[in-house]
Amino acid sequence: MKKYIVGITGASGSIYGIRLAEEILKAKNEVFIVITDNGQKVMKYETGFELNSVLKRLEGFGKVNLCDINDLFAPIASGSFKVEGMVIAPCSMSAIGRISNGISLNLLDRAADVCIKEKRKLIVVPREMPFNTIHLENMLKLSKSGAVILPASPGFYNKPQSLDDIINFVVSRILDNLDIENNISKRWRD
Ligand SMILES: Cc1cc2nc3c(=O)[nH]c(=O)nc-3n(C[C@H](O)[C@H](O)[C@H](O)COP(=O)(O)O)c2cc1C
Repeated sequence: MKKYIVGITGASGSIYGIRLAEEILKAKNEVFIVITDNGQKVMKYETGFELNSVLKRLEGFGKVNLCDINDLFAPIASGSFKVEGMVIAPCSMSAIGRISNGISLNLLDRAADVCIKEKRKLIVVPREMPFNTIHLENMLKLSKSGAVILPASPGFYNKPQSLDDIINFVVSRILDNLDIENNISKRWRD
């Protein structure tokens, strides 16, 4: 059983992180969830879900651990705790700014910093429009440090029929990047 960290920030689109955690669990992996305070607030606003109910549902799919955002003593704060990788979905411009500048104000920032220093997979799913130069420069810095910048920009060439199709398009690209087998979205000319 491999271990993955799913980070959720206060950018729009917490549903991406929730769906992603579900798929990682269904693939028989362990998930560590770390969500910022703003992430919880925006999740409640956009989806109507409280974190507790999200966790309860995820627990039905496999082993999920909620990490306290302020607990810098948590296992994922250390490079000696081995994880396969981390995905921050959605990732706010604020979190990108903190991480790209090496500032670890909370456990999400620190876990991402650890992934970069240990050269582990870090996938950042930014959500903002338009990007300003500061956002772009910060993303370039992260990319140069080995992170994958995988924006929440669903394609429409597969003719999505529902919101689920659109969400799954992005989640499928993330899973592909993590090398986790999935068939949740139609593939081009498949
Ligand atoms: C409803 C709502 C939607 C937001 N959407 C975005 C967004 O898409 N991208 C972004 O970078 N910030 C967005 N923000 C602003 C972030 O929540 C804000 O920058 C916050 O400080 C991020 O904190 P965090 O990185 O600790 O989660 C949004 C805020 C609210 C209230």
